[in-house]
Amino acid sequence: MDKFIVEGNGPLSGEVAASGAKNAALPILCASLLSDEPLHLTNLPKLWDIATTRKLLTQMGVDVQQPDPHECVVNAKSITTCVAPYELVRTMRASILVLGPLLAKRGEAQVSLPGGCAIGARPVDLHLMGLKAMGAEINLEGGFIHAKASRLKGAQIYFDTVTVTGTENLMMAAVLAEGETILENAAREPEVVDLARCLRAMGAKIEGDGNTTIRIQGVKNLHAATHAILPDRIETGTFLVAGAVSRGRVRVTHTEPGLLDAVLVKLQQAGAIIRTGVDFIEVDMQGRRPKAVNLHTMPHPGFPTDMQAQFMALNCLAEGVGVIKETIFENRFMHAQELLRLGADIRIEVNTAVVTGKESLTAAPIMATALRASASLVIAALAAQGETIIDRIYHMDRGYEDIEGKFAALGAKIMRVSKLM
Ligand code: UD1
Repeated sequence: MDKFIVEGNGPLSGEVAASGAKNAALPILCASLLSDEPLHLTNLPKLWDIATTRKLLTQMGVDVQQPDPHECVVNAKSITTCVAPYELVRTMRASILVLGPLLAKRGEAQVSLPGGCAIGARPVDLHLMGLKAMGAEINLEGGFIHAKASRLKGAQIYFDTVTVTGTENLMMAAVLAEGETILENAAREPEVVDLARCLRAMGAKIEGDGNTTIRIQGVKNLHAATHAILPDRIETGTFLVAGAVSRGRVRVTHTEPGLLDAVLVKLQQAGAIIRTGVDFIEVDMQGRRPKAVNLHTMPHPGFPTDMQAQFMALNCLAEGVGVIKETIFENRFMHAQELLRLGADIRIEVNTAVVTGKESLTAAPIMATALRASASLVIAALAAQGETIIDRIYHMDRGYEDIEGKFAALGAKIMRVSKLM
């Protein structure tokens, strides 16, 4: 298992380019199942989760050509099976995103139930509720979701909880359904909007994405299309926070400032000077220590839960006390235990973390527990005194492209050590 050796090395400085968004690329790759014609994707991030999705599609008989690591052409014409097996689903919960497209286009799907995960129970009941409302017959048996439908029918669906992949799954199911589907209390995340954009390029009729009500008029077929994946706002935010914690100046290019409003407000409250252009964001601390910030995770356009851990690292080294409330997932503070090992002062009460900033942290061996949690550990280790060894960084490879190369370009001392076990 690979490890990182990270040495605290003063302020980060320089420029990095954001990759394509993992959370947009995953549903969009699954959208290829909705057509028998090729879907050409560019700005694809080079990540484990993308490789897992490619495996998932190819084992179904889908043709995936990848002329370049950041580009692919997917054609589901040759699909041979509609099964998403446990071995793949358990490594990536987002595999559930094949359910809606398979059911809509092929009339059947067998998808392994994702089960629990490190950040909470994460059920898929709302995905299933919506598909049932569209006329699907769904049975749970042997750890699998067995779904069948002749042709799905448009329906009015209300989500009790805002769910990102739930909204995406039902939007993909609805594009080929008979009649109109209305999704109420839908997720407004930019990745949902990017999926809608790609589906429209394929011939789907969707209105209202980016708002809480999405209307979809079903069509008979979708056709070939080309789509560029939007930039990864969480990767962008991670580098900006790292810049702020290190008291440095970091510019992220190939990104879109409008995707990160809530995050940029918090960075400003932390004392950062923010400069933006059409496709870049720069954070500049002018050598100053960040100030602690309070935050409350919310569905978009609120503060993203996927940036919570990185801001906890910021509060650990900031001036003052910051209160972080996690409202999306019930168990998303595992990084706190590891930050404590670096000497942080964090008190957790149910879903609230009270963090008292320290002037410095001290290196220690620590362990990555989940994707965004790992990012917070790298950020803290880069600002700690001494050499921190971070184990189980495979979590990070799921969602950050060449993170050590990008941090090294900012002047960080970070080295990957591969150990054969
Ligand atoms: C997506 C993102 C993930 C992000 C999360 C919240 C992808 C691939 N992953 O995950 O990075 O952290 O959104 O922004 O896009 N829920 C239910 N029933 C359901 C579905 C969800 O109760 O059927 C609950 C969940 O337990 C959670 C909340 O809804 O408490 C939000 O989860 P959801 O938006 O579905 O997260 P994901 O789509 O899995």
